[in-house]
Amino acid sequence: MQHWDNYWQKTKTLNSFAEGEQGLGYAGDIARFWQQIFTTLQPNASILDLATGNGGLAVLALQTNDRFVVTATDKANIAPLQLFSRQDASYKYLKKIQFFGNMPSERLTFAAAEFDMVISQFGFEYAEPAATLQQLYRILTPVGKAVALVHHADSFISLDCQVGLAVLPVFTAADGLLAKAQAFAIFCKPLQQFTDLSAQQQQLLKQHSNLLLSAFMATQQLFSGDKLDWFNVMAKDLVPALSNWRCLSEDTITTLVHNLTDFKQRLTDQLAASWNTAQIKHIQKIAEQQGFVVSVATLDSAEGKLCWVFKLAKKVKENNDTGEYINN
Ligand SMILES: C[S@@+](CC[C@H](N)C(=O)[O-])C[C@H]1O[C@@H](n2cnc3c(N)ncnc32)[C@H](O)[C@@H]1O
Repeated sequence: MQHWDNYWQKTKTLNSFAEGEQGLGYAGDIARFWQQIFTTLQPNASILDLATGNGGLAVLALQTNDRFVVTATDKANIAPLQLFSRQDASYKYLKKIQFFGNMPSERLTFAAAEFDMVISQFGFEYAEPAATLQQLYRILTPVGKAVALVHHADSFISLDCQVGLAVLPVFTAADGLLAKAQAFAIFCKPLQQFTDLSAQQQQLLKQHSNLLLSAFMATQQLFSGDKLDWFNVMAKDLVPALSNWRCLSEDTITTLVHNLTDFKQRLTDQLAASWNTAQIKHIQKIAEQQGFVVSVATLDSAEGKLCWVFKLAKKVKENNDTGEYINN
């Protein structure tokens, strides 16, 4: 969980894997999907955003209707209000959300029937499904519903994630680029005390820095297309660090190693959490056995398959098996 704690506490983003402009909140197909779901709710509905991260989906709910009462949980130690401030557009919404970090979906501490709707964007699937479903059944009102957008094993996101994982070892392997950068930092350290380098020191520095540059370029040339994009993303903090040997330190490279190791762990989690057809059928069965009526569909976008749409409603008791499900 440390990799998620670090990510949410140190990255000023509302959503995972979406820094910069993208990290300001959900937009496009995902936002449209949820806005439509939110229109089905009463104006003052109580909503729980499960595995919320820094609250991207919870914020979207309040942007759609600021009368919703929104709670948000995550197993990670989240603290979004420490990253965002008054100047940020999302701040006024984040302030209205009750966040509970260190709360796994399998162990929600809320009272029974507390929520009209549970929502989750790429979060439900990270927890153990049977225990989580049990919790949802308990905390939803009798007519409450849960809607989760869940990673699909064949989505373009999962495929892209696999590409990222294939590229990462060129940085993190024992003889990878970061190990070479660390050796260069160690070499540079004693030279940093000199204002002017001797001719011999300059020549040695040039040799070492050329060796590193050649290794970097030779590795970069191994890739094209999506792999090259990933390589460049992963190299984005390394290149500026190496460009100034006087300021380069072992600690700087160690931080980059930690960041990429955390990144690898998040990508690995994401792939492990992606459901294939057999898995979603299995989880559907568990949900039905626990008393839910389940609807499963896929959501596509211009880039291809985006995710599963997993919807749950409690079976209506008088109605025996069939239950009632509003298809929204
Ligand atoms: C891909 S992120 C999604 C976060 C957020 N919903 C978003 O849209 O950006 C997955 C989240 O699941 C959380 N998580 C992992 N295992 C969990 C569990 N058992 N219970 C609750 N949250 C969990 C992680 O901490 C992480 O914040």
